Amino acid sequence: MKLILLGPPGSGKGTVSEKLEKDLNLLHISAGELLREEVQKKTTIGKDIKEYIDRGELVPNKFVVEMVKLEVKNKDNYILDGFPRSIEQAKEIEDLGITLVIYLEVPEKIVIERFAGRRVCKEGTHGYHIKYLPPKKEGICDQDGSPLVQRKDDKPEVIKERFRIYHQETQPLIDYYTKKSILKKVDGALAPEIVYTAVKKVVKKSLSR
Ligand code: AP5
Repeated sequence: MKLILLGPPGSGKGTVSEKLEKDLNLLHISAGELLREEVQKKTTIGKDIKEYIDRGELVPNKFVVEMVKLEVKNKDNYILDGFPRSIEQAKEIEDLGITLVIYLEVPEKIVIERFAGRRVCKEGTHGYHIKYLPPKKEGICDQDGSPLVQRKDDKPEVIKERFRIYHQETQPLIDYYTKKSILKKVDGALAPEIVYTAVKKVVKKSLSR
């Protein structure tokens, strides 16, 4: 299974991927996480990347595409979360033979409300929501015990820019993959367990074919 999770910022791509990874043994490859890892290394490339992320803009393809291609090399079971984000990036991975694209449909109004309550662990790997997906112990990651923090790009002005870019660059992918007959829509505005059950059903159906 080579799965793409597509959706606006905050639609739940990371949340769903984390669960699918554990449940169905699919490797979770998050473009955003790979980029943030590079930023943490404080390399010259990392410093460049940080500027784009902090502004809410897409990081140039020369940094992202090779990074993702390296991760998927010789693998057959994975979830691409946050990649591709433009028609250009989609064309770059045409040869991978993507099995399924799930589009998490969530109205912008709902997503904006989610950002205020989002918390992530220190490494940024595990995500929570103070109201909808709280950790067992307040402020502490269930999985690695690190303190939970807010993401730097979750500020209102950066979120606005991330949405603008999403509409301009990423939304055309819905048509692109619909025409290839591999896109399935899931209502991502419902409660986390309901969204996850719906996604899993679609994935399992595709696996059984
Ligand atoms: P990235 O980290 O991928 O950010 P994003 O796409 O904006 O998506 P998010 O991680 O914000 O949200 P999500 O959909 O994963 O939602 P989540 O599950 O966290 O990218 C960051 C930046 O990196 C980009 O802006 C760009 O600069 C760069 N970048 C990344 N990929 C790139 C690429 N391909 N090319 C170029 N640049 C790239 O959920 C959000 C919150 O809601 C959480 O608190 C969660 O607990 C909660 N929640 C989840 N589901 C539900 C639900 N059903 N009900 C209620 N709450 C829920």
